Amino acid sequence: MIPSHTIEEIRNKADIEDVVSDYVSLKKKGKNLWGCCPFHDEKTPSFTVSPAKGIFKCFGCGKAGDSITFIMEKEKFAYTDALKYLAQKYGITIEEKQYSLEEKKESDEKEALYHLLHNAKEKFQKNLLQEQSQAALTYLKNRGLNTEVMQKFELGYSLDAWNDLLNYYKKMGYSEELLEKSGIIIVREEESGKKIYDRFRNRIMFPIHNLIGKTIGFGARLLKNEENQPKYLNSPETIVYKKNEVLYGIFQAKESIKHEDNCYLCEGYMDVISLHMAGIQNTVAASGTSLTENQIKQIKRFTHNVTTLFDGDNAGIKASFRGIDMLLSQDINVKVVPFPENEDPDSYAHKLGPQPFKEFLKTNATDFILFKTKILLKNIQNDPIKKTEITTDIITSISCIPNIIKRDLYIQECSDILKINKDIIEVALQNILSPQKKDTQKNKIHPTNVTSAKEKPIKEKITYQEEESIRILLLYGKETIKQPESQDIQALTYFFKETEDDGISFQSPLYQEIYALFKQKLQEGILVDMDYFLKHESLEIRNCVASLIGKEDKHEFSKNWQERYEINIPTEKEELKQSMYTNIIRLKLSFIKFLRKQNIEKLTNPEYAQDEILQEIKEQNTIIQELSKIIGKVYEL
Ligand code: UTP
Ligand code: MN
Repeated sequence: MIPSHTIEEIRNKADIEDVVSDYVSLKKKGKNLWGCCPFHDEKTPSFTVSPAKGIFKCFGCGKAGDSITFIMEKEKFAYTDALKYLAQKYGITIEEKQYSLEEKKESDEKEALYHLLHNAKEKFQKNLLQEQSQAALTYLKNRGLNTEVMQKFELGYSLDAWNDLLNYYKKMGYSEELLEKSGIIIVREEESGKKIYDRFRNRIMFPIHNLIGKTIGFGARLLKNEENQPKYLNSPETIVYKKNEVLYGIFQAKESIKHEDNCYLCEGYMDVISLHMAGIQNTVAASGTSLTENQIKQIKRFTHNVTTLFDGDNAGIKASFRGIDMLLSQDINVKVVPFPENEDPDSYAHKLGPQPFKEFLKTNATDFILFKTKILLKNIQNDPIKKTEITTDIITSISCIPNIIKRDLYIQECSDILKINKDIIEVALQNILSPQKKDTQKNKIHPTNVTSAKEKPIKEKITYQEEESIRILLLYGKETIKQPESQDIQALTYFFKETEDDGISFQSPLYQEIYALFKQKLQEGILVDMDYFLKHESLEIRNCVASLIGKEDKHEFSKNWQERYEINIPTEKEELKQSMYTNIIRLKLSFIKFLRKQNIEKLTNPEYAQDEILQEIKEQNTIIQELSKIIGKVYEL
């Protein structure tokens, strides 16, 4: 936390001309300075700096901002890191904000864990060199690793003992509590009493590093297959090891990713290491799980290009298609390299040897959408129903791409490959992108839904509120909502708590299904998010979710502008409780209006008891007024 007056000082002193001059040679022309853009390749200058306004702008690639955004872009720094960098450059001291006792405790604990994990990593490394660990070293050598790469990845070995680390660290004075929190020691209450022992025994240790190279956890592999033992054991989630934020190998890869402007993405620890051995350093692994949004954000700091390396079996390839839509929706250009049957990047790199393997990657990298189209097309044997299915599937992937120009290029190419008219693909795509539009069209067909021009059809309003609810749950369901009076809760829990007593059901069958899934999982104690739905077996659900999260970009965009011009509009996420609350009220409001409308229609039908219905309408009127007051809109009844 940097105090705002310091940020102000940094902004004032970090003169744009001076900051940019470290990277670009600038020439004065009129009021502005010109040079060759440092963000894209060019020979004639289209990059300008306006000292008066304190901003830069490139007319070639469109990048623009102030001195802080310039450093963020150029050095791939986060906002605070850019501020720190500039503070140092201009001799401004940053007085760190006073931490609360709670914050202090957590930061001390983190420091202690980093220290302990660093020490454990070194201990595992030393173990590897002991006589009794021959088998481990032999194992690594047999898999083709040399000492250099073992050191680069700081590989080690955990002894075949139940309390080697436990005794060692207890002697050093570490508390059982901290040892357990680090994940290297397991503490379990059993009937016979407390059991406490080393988590990793007789395994090759792969330290997992964060972006700046600190050890935050471990992956640990068996030396040889054993029944009832997982091949790899991993550290549990801890306060320093957040699985959905970590990519294995990112520390060792980041320079090269930036340099190559591409990131190879594979599945396993050994794949990453073998690629390094083959001289390919821009490689990370998601370690057996599918990618999360947070992991993609890490990659995006260094490049927007990802090449996925698939294992060579067909089932695996199709399973990964869903995960890749996630990359597309984060505006990443995705290529894929399929491997031959029964080969993974590790095995194949050894089979071919470094140079031919590099060639293989180069010649086989194919654009993902085109690859997917061709693969799916292979198996349909002119069956029109199957062709419709795969076409929708492909269009869904295209719909994930936020950039409209890129989308258009793909539509063109896929139209050629699939031999389907481009306009038809375009229409199908629009339908995926805005599911509520379809409902509007239906409304036009049904004369009972015709309403005055002033008021939107109720059906459409409901769908919109439902869409908003689902969108918020998908994006922010796992976020914590602070409650001043009682315990903090997760957004999902909050939403269901607020809606469960009202018998609200969603009118759109698709949203109802997603809502029910959220609820069902919540009852099982699991908070699911968009990841879960993007991998759902139902194509319709995947389509729908992809299009909803695609809408997030609008908010992202305005956030950039806010940062650039320091306009502090709280984002949807920051104001989560508020946005959820108003959304819930609106949802209830449209639901009740819908019920009231049904009642009004019943009034003209003699089959119903008019008195009761009138009474119901009166009650509904009151509720509508109450709810409307809350959202600051008084509806005329
Ligand atoms: P793989 O089974 O493909 O293993 O799992 P691998 O990486 O090729 O490993 P080797 O070559 O047999 O040594 C891919 C990744 O899935 C995770 C690990 O991160 C592994 O690298 N995994 C796998 C686990 O976490 N636990 C397991 O039991 C298996
Ligand atoms: Mn392998």
